[in-house]
Amino acid sequence: MSEAPAAIYEGKAKILYPGDDADTLVLFFKDDTSAFDGEKREQLARKGEINNAFNAYIQTYLQEHGVPTHFVRRLDARRSLVRRLDMIPVESVLRNRAAGSLCRRLGIEEGRLLEPPVLEFFLKNDALHDPMINRSHMRTFGYASTTEVELMEHWTQRVNTLLSARFADAGLVLVDFKLEFGRAGGEILLGDEFSPDGCRLWDAQSQEKMDKDRFRRGLGGVVEAYIEVAHRLGIATDA
Ligand code: TMP
Repeated sequence: MSEAPAAIYEGKAKILYPGDDADTLVLFFKDDTSAFDGEKREQLARKGEINNAFNAYIQTYLQEHGVPTHFVRRLDARRSLVRRLDMIPVESVLRNRAAGSLCRRLGIEEGRLLEPPVLEFFLKNDALHDPMINRSHMRTFGYASTTEVELMEHWTQRVNTLLSARFADAGLVLVDFKLEFGRAGGEILLGDEFSPDGCRLWDAQSQEKMDKDRFRRGLGGVVEAYIEVAHRLGIATDA
């Protein structure tokens, strides 16, 4: 029997393993949940498998609507095969309504409609608490070229159009979300994952939080909320 391959990288919520060939990787979704740059951590039973199923649905939906992503296929309950990317170390955040760090930074009340939506970039660096950066920083420090930044903005806006409509059909408001991009074969592809760990979703009627803010704020019912969102989208969670 061959031994399990060594991890290439272990993040807070996922582990990356080598794929079948040099061009692919296996994403393993852990139950670990973190907030505040890893200061608050907990294991939430079944979160990994729910996020794996959730991400597979969203990535497939985006691909079917013309968004280039690294996703290849879901392998089993906790693992998905993806294309290996040279990651751009920047988080692309799109906000339709004010929440989280935007409210703290600018003193805006939570829930305010942002018209047009706000797009922000943050450097991925926990030690520096993911500082906000702009196009100029990205060029000067070589995080991404001008063309790459334009593509990141374009695909982030497109994902917003597609997913805001999809979540609205499921009775949910897509408040904000975070994307990460990488390079492969001369292209910019959407990487990482899309799950309630990296976006804010509110029930359209009650405004109840259905995402990782439940964990950040100690509201409880975190995985239950993720499962509810998944079911509204028609994603099987075997629960
Ligand atoms: P923020 O309001 O804390 O800046 O977060 C904006 C969105 O980005 C929110 O949906 C959560 C997501 N996000 C991540 O996925 N990872 C992170 O490290 C941070 C800071 C935010």
